[in-house]
Amino acid sequence: MFLIVTGTMLAYNGSRRENASHPRVTVDDFMPMPRWFPSPPSLAFRRQEAAWMAAAFRPNASGVSDIERTWRTEERCRLLVFRSCPEAEPRTVFPLLAELFGKPAVPAGLLLPEPEEDARDGGGHSNAVARPGALQWLDGQPPRSVLYVALGSEAPVTAASVHELALGLELSGVRFLWALRPPSGGGGTGTGEQPLLPEGFEERTRGRGAACMGWVPQVRVLAHAAVGAFLTHCGWGSVAESLRFGHPLVMLPFVVDQGLIARMMSERGVGVEVARRDDDGGFSRDDVAAAVTRVMVEEEGKELALNAKRLRELVVGDDGGRQERYVDELVECLQRHS
Ligand SMILES: *[C@@H]1O[C@H](CO)[C@@H](O)[C@H](O)[C@H]1NC(C)=O
Ligand SMILES: *[C@@H]1O[C@H](CO)[C@@H](O)[C@H](O)[C@H]1NC(C)=O
Repeated sequence: MFLIVTGTMLAYNGSRRENASHPRVTVDDFMPMPRWFPSPPSLAFRRQEAAWMAAAFRPNASGVSDIERTWRTEERCRLLVFRSCPEAEPRTVFPLLAELFGKPAVPAGLLLPEPEEDARDGGGHSNAVARPGALQWLDGQPPRSVLYVALGSEAPVTAASVHELALGLELSGVRFLWALRPPSGGGGTGTGEQPLLPEGFEERTRGRGAACMGWVPQVRVLAHAAVGAFLTHCGWGSVAESLRFGHPLVMLPFVVDQGLIARMMSERGVGVEVARRDDDGGFSRDDVAAAVTRVMVEEEGKELALNAKRLRELVVGDDGGRQERYVDELVECLQRHS
């Protein structure tokens, strides 16, 4: 079973046996890490995130819960393979997974694309197409001055959140490149009466900010010398790609394991979360501006950037080959088990 979520997420879920002996019932039960997963108290879900997890443990309209689907798959597999590595997660996770599920839990490494590969994937024949507009815009910005903003393709972001995010970026005064998509969380598509961005936003931030609709070559953007930090929804793919370049993070998680990833990265001192309301998980423009300023402007940002660089070194290894070795070990492991 190849998992693109973190090992931490699967350890939180536990196996069918853990559920039977320690079932979680209320949303409160789903907030802390479960008792079979000893971890620092800061590694926990917020209420909104826990409500989402609790729902994944209940049958949905298909009659089967998402967790039941995971268990049935896992129970029919001999190996659990993760797009992850022990350096990027709490140390105890991989041994714990092997114990919980009674089979090897194998890190495949973060499987990071090369910036050139990304160019081929996204741009067809890279030598025949123009340099993407986002990169051209970055070419004109000072080194490490730009906050790259992207909330991924699946985060349930509402139109109201897009507006608060925009106004927060405006308030912060920093340079930004925003890979903007229409909100998926309902309440306006950007094509109807309600515009996607607040009125006048683009004029007021012209010169220091760019909002790109459509596809943005994320790995090439993260590799660009003008980028200094990343405002992310903390999807594991995005955080892994960012780790490769050692960027500090401004974190705005929504669902699945995004909250846990944000807590893990806070714990490592490589990013700060946008403050959220307890009741509905909402945030305001001031919350956005405060978090962005901490990372991009204040003294604290230097420490975060240093920690991000250290984590990058840990992940790539002294000789730069650690991630490649995980792939080699996975190949050997598959051969042993074939
Ligand atoms: C977990 O165990 C409880 C108690 O036995 C049970 O009611 C619940 O359905 C189980 N959860 C899942 C997702 O099967
Ligand atoms: C129920 O969950 C399955 C598996 O995640 C999903 O494919 C399906 O769309 C969900 N159904 C509803 C009604 O949400």
